[in-house]
Amino acid sequence: MALVTTKQMLLDAQKGNYAVGAFNVENMEMVMAVVSAAEELNSPVILQTTPSTVKYADLEYFLANAKVAAQNASVPVAMHLDHGSSFELAMSAFRAGYTSIMIDGSHSEFEENIRITKSVVDVCKCAKIPVEAELGKVGGKEDDLDGGDGGYTDPQEALEFVQKTGVDSLAVAIGTAHGVYKGEPKLDIDRLAEIRKVVDIPLVLHGTSGVPDETVTKCIERGICKVNYATDLRIAFSKGVKEVLDKDHDVIDPKKYNAVGREYVKEYVKSKIIVCKSDEKAK
Ligand code: 13P
Repeated sequence: MALVTTKQMLLDAQKGNYAVGAFNVENMEMVMAVVSAAEELNSPVILQTTPSTVKYADLEYFLANAKVAAQNASVPVAMHLDHGSSFELAMSAFRAGYTSIMIDGSHSEFEENIRITKSVVDVCKCAKIPVEAELGKVGGKEDDLDGGDGGYTDPQEALEFVQKTGVDSLAVAIGTAHGVYKGEPKLDIDRLAEIRKVVDIPLVLHGTSGVPDETVTKCIERGICKVNYATDLRIAFSKGVKEVLDKDHDVIDPKKYNAVGREYVKEYVKSKIIVCKSDEKAK
């Protein structure tokens, strides 16, 4: 089927008390792996790319891969711009045909975050393309993104932010961080419940690689409907490639090692679809 938006996918997840996994992809093999995992488990799925990924090869390359994978799939697939870092990039992804857009104004002051988010929402809503925003700062570092030390989302600010921007989903800062954790992450689960009490749109968890599955489950029980995984997919893909190359230094065919990287990503994604409880939820 054609790519779908994340709008109904996330509303269904919210109603059904599960979450949809959003998986960052870096190449064709990772796109294939994520969609194939979703198909095997009959799950809706979100593919996403960061600004640095689309700088490496532009939006159209990734979108073309996603479109082909979606067309051949029996499950709903959405293509999302992750951490859209400017109005211009958000508009480029919108014009290219991405079916879900994140504008990340979390590095700006509250009022400026509202202004830039609303400007993207105003354009995207004309074509019914849903927009995700971020309030508070998810810490850590991923590619060019540097969340610094993080600042947690304030529930009352979240309410005002959602009312003033009309955004479709909200990424919250509750103690997760992008990249590899040094120790076990400590999440402010109570804060998530407080946000949920006042904000009724789907909430998004960033920085989920390395967060224990039981903690992710608790977050889903408290309103998280989209769960982002990036770092662990990169680790899985690289592990597969390295294993092949370490075993035989004479391998020169990229298909040989990429296929193993793809298989490792697929297994990882399947395990996280189960954690999100989105298996058998494809419509
Ligand atoms: P991780 O790299 O920590 O999985 O974070 C993914 C993410 O939140 C992408 O936006």
